[in-house]
Amino acid sequence: MCGIVGYVGKRPAIDILLKGLKRLEYRGYDSAGVAFFSRGKLEVRKSQGKLENVERLMDGSSELFADAHCGIGHTRWATHGKPTTQNAHPHRAGHVVIVHNGIIENYQEIKAELISRGHKPESETDSELFGFLVLEAMEKGQDLVTAVRTSFAHLEGACSVVVMSEREPGKVVGVRNGSPMAAAFDPQGGAILASDAQPILEYTKEVIFLENGDVVVGTEKGLAFFDLKTGAPLDRVGEILDWSVDKIDKGGFPHFMLKEIHEQPAALVDTLNGIMDRVKTNPFPLAAQPGADLLRTAKEITFVACGTSWHAALLGKYWIERFARIPVNVELASEFRYRDPVLAPGALVIGMSQSGETADTLAVIRDVKKRGFKTLGLTNVRGSTLSREADAIFYTSAGPEIGVAATKTFTTQMLAVLLWAGYLGIEHKAPRTSPAGTPNAKPISFEELFHEIVKLPHQIKECLDDPQGMITAVRSAAKQLQNIKGFFFIGRGFSYPIALEGALKLKEIAYVHAEGYAAGELKHGPIAMIDQDMAVVVLAPQDSWRDKTVSNLEEVKARGAKIVAIGGTHDQNLKNLSDFWIPLPAQKDESLLPFLMTAAVQMLSYELALLKGTDVDKPRNLAKSVTVE
Ligand code: AGP
Ligand code: GLU
Repeated sequence: MCGIVGYVGKRPAIDILLKGLKRLEYRGYDSAGVAFFSRGKLEVRKSQGKLENVERLMDGSSELFADAHCGIGHTRWATHGKPTTQNAHPHRAGHVVIVHNGIIENYQEIKAELISRGHKPESETDSELFGFLVLEAMEKGQDLVTAVRTSFAHLEGACSVVVMSEREPGKVVGVRNGSPMAAAFDPQGGAILASDAQPILEYTKEVIFLENGDVVVGTEKGLAFFDLKTGAPLDRVGEILDWSVDKIDKGGFPHFMLKEIHEQPAALVDTLNGIMDRVKTNPFPLAAQPGADLLRTAKEITFVACGTSWHAALLGKYWIERFARIPVNVELASEFRYRDPVLAPGALVIGMSQSGETADTLAVIRDVKKRGFKTLGLTNVRGSTLSREADAIFYTSAGPEIGVAATKTFTTQMLAVLLWAGYLGIEHKAPRTSPAGTPNAKPISFEELFHEIVKLPHQIKECLDDPQGMITAVRSAAKQLQNIKGFFFIGRGFSYPIALEGALKLKEIAYVHAEGYAAGELKHGPIAMIDQDMAVVVLAPQDSWRDKTVSNLEEVKARGAKIVAIGGTHDQNLKNLSDFWIPLPAQKDESLLPFLMTAAVQMLSYELALLKGTDVDKPRNLAKSVTVE
């Protein structure tokens, strides 16, 4: 985790560093700091807490900063040592200053050696130690780049660093080895380095994503790249990114999360356009996409993911099994990687990760590749590690998601997987079967399904604009339930992953205890928790599972729980059974209902978070990009 920015050039460095860190705060926000050259000397300003604290430290000293044109900055998600000012980055060791992203696994050995050689580390972090290694190497006569390279060779674990030294002012040296790093030429002369492209986009759209094992050196003249091991110069080519800067601002919404919930219709349209060619007659012309061959030839599919992405993968299982009749497994990456998993011959492993940087998901992709299996990635971030390491990649086009809680990246992941399911159904000429339990229901054709998918963005927009009263109902339920002890979210079939997602959202942004359960599982234990102090959100839209879910509703209602029912607009019976009623517009095919339910549960968690007064966009203890295991 952690966000890193480095700048050298003609512009005011502090401004660029602080703005850049603001854009990277989603990566970590328990402390922050900057280091910069002022009149040839290195200055460090850092503080525990959010970036505002560092901004405050800079107030009133504009003279000191006016001539600062070279600096580095960091926003932290602590792994080693508490989130205190002392542990905040940058860390200084003599004339060297560093920021670090990731973990130095052998830090205890390094620390013991450094102390035995007379150094006095001041923080509890692993990061600080790297500065001393560079200092020692420079004291032995190495230049900054060589010292960074030789010192890096002592480190175990995946991490990236950016370093400066008073001995070589006006130079910013970065290493990528695990955690991501991007770099760009400043068109006005100079260079910018950052953990992702967002801090860079304001100045240029051409971004170079470093490979693992790259060293980048930024000076007023621009950028140079070297091989970490050999020191040989490298050629690195930039990519033009189409994310505009205005997409990274709040655009009049009080929170990024709310803005991003409202951006879902547009994000779905962009994702549709990115995956399909809607002009062609074949409704699922995925064939032209990289990765389509891997999907088509897969004998079995195993999804690996974490958190919300795992929920999207679970829906993928339900859809692909139903539409394409291919066996699908869904695995938590953190479990899969340390098990002894057995994959069927011809299995395709799909890593799903909005950030494309989740350590556990990446580890699985690397491992199964080594074992000879084909891998596919689905991510929202161009140039992310997943996009580089999987054999082929699909992109969602949600645009930058700043709120730590995944919203539009989730619905666009869902859309991508639903399209895959339809595509595979057509490719394999899979029979369109009736859902279990509703043998008489006539399934719609894939062509019809496609036409319905195209309408989805509009329908979600309608739900969010609220003419049918969905949001008003959500708001009223949130208000009246704000002091309830806890929530269960229950659903069956396609609603089950949404129940899990609803509970996760509520926990992460409102800090309210919530559990997601398959509705049929409640009676196997959790029902013991149910009493009048609990609320149960029942996802019972008009689908094949509706009647069974309503029976489960009766079971919890009988035990006094407050019922929040989310179901078909005209489902009078369900409405009568509920204390709070959230109407969902009907869908021609039940597989599309999860998209609308998602909007409802996202808004429920948002409204509860507002009432609780939490930091919606930066909930405590979390970070958006989980690059540590
Ligand atoms: C989602 O709201 C969470 N912040 C979290 O569960 C997230 O989905 C998980 O960390 C996986 O992230 P990824 O999609 O970037 O791999
Ligand atoms: N290990 C470093 C620290 O604790 C960096 C953490 C990170 O990148 O998340 O400060």
